[in-house]
Amino acid sequence: MRLLVTGGLGFIGSNFVRAVLRDRPDWRVTNLDLVTYAGNPANLADLAHDPRYRFVKGDIAEPADVARAVQGGADALVNFAAESHVDRSILSATPFVRTNVLGTVALLEAARAIGRCRVVHVSTDEVYGALGPDDPPFTEQTPVNPTSPYAASKAAADHLALSFARTHGQEIVITRCSNNYGPYQFPEKLIPLMITNAIEGKKLPVYGDGRQVRDWIHVEDHCAGVLAVLERGRAGEVYNFGARAERYNIDIVSRIVALLKVQPGLVEHVADRPAHDRRYAMDAGKVERELGWRPARSFEDGLAATVRWYAEHEAWWRAVKDGSYRDFYRQWYEERVP
Ligand code: NAD
Ligand code: TYD
Repeated sequence: MRLLVTGGLGFIGSNFVRAVLRDRPDWRVTNLDLVTYAGNPANLADLAHDPRYRFVKGDIAEPADVARAVQGGADALVNFAAESHVDRSILSATPFVRTNVLGTVALLEAARAIGRCRVVHVSTDEVYGALGPDDPPFTEQTPVNPTSPYAASKAAADHLALSFARTHGQEIVITRCSNNYGPYQFPEKLIPLMITNAIEGKKLPVYGDGRQVRDWIHVEDHCAGVLAVLERGRAGEVYNFGARAERYNIDIVSRIVALLKVQPGLVEHVADRPAHDRRYAMDAGKVERELGWRPARSFEDGLAATVRWYAEHEAWWRAVKDGSYRDFYRQWYEERVP
């Protein structure tokens, strides 16, 4: 298997590349990543000398970069590359359209040109919009109804991916997953931001009343699901992923405060996010029935393990937070990887 992974220096992509090379030792992985602010070569520094792993710095929205990455062939492609943070999409939507929409199209065209190249396009529960407190979880039949520019750009990409599957008969599968947490998540997202701020003794900014609900899944469970879909998912289908772990934001922050034994007074309610989706919840019944996938971790165990990971990897997140990862790690990495 010659696998192209895009966005492999980000949170989920780096966990996926590491898991694939552990669980499928005869596969070869090329990682195409633009090394944006969210792409950190330190996330895969342990693989820099692995002969099965090749890094290509490039933009998924640039067909020439994609062509470079698939030189020598690709049997499959998993697209993680994206602008992924809702708050950034509220400040400026254009990079989201460029990477998430135009980038996805460039990858779909490249896969079409290769001929037999299976595509897994990694998407999100946020394309479905928001649920009320008593609504049933999203299924694959729930109409797409995004609210944030991030979610709208992901929904556009999903529609394009399905249209290529139908129009050109390409083997394309979409995964839509709920909120991930775990090692190597950029500390702009809720859980790593709260853990690292708490360790630093900084305020813990909870948007609005903190009674928004997300359905949390450990990144390793999501990665196992993407691998199952890559190997066995039906072409042209969408698979929802979630771990039946709906939690209020404020309860997660309180749990982090308790695990780290910091002052509850650090919690600070701040202005709410505009058009803040109140609740997400995923029905993962289809992937459970068809592919036998199940999440392995409970949220409580996974959160405690994640808090420990950040406590034990201070050098990693401090370099991210003070910005030094941009210079130090990139230079370190580019010296070693052609
Ligand atoms: P991330 O922001 O941590 O990483 C994104 C990666 O993509 C980075 O390495 C970045 O350098 C790279 N990238 C950005 N623009 C690029 C471009 N134009 N060309 C090449 N590389 C580029 O994101 P993440 O949290 O790991 O999310 C990965 C994927 O999973 C995204 O598609 C996201 O929509 C989806 N997803 C994320 C979550 C979540 O909770 N984090 C949940 C469901 C789905
Ligand atoms: P986030 O991690 O940004 O993921 P998403 O918006 O994609 O769900 O946010 C998760 C939830 O936490 C969301 O309801 C917004 C909230 N949140 C805060 O309350 N404070 C923060 O500082 C951040 C980053 C998020």
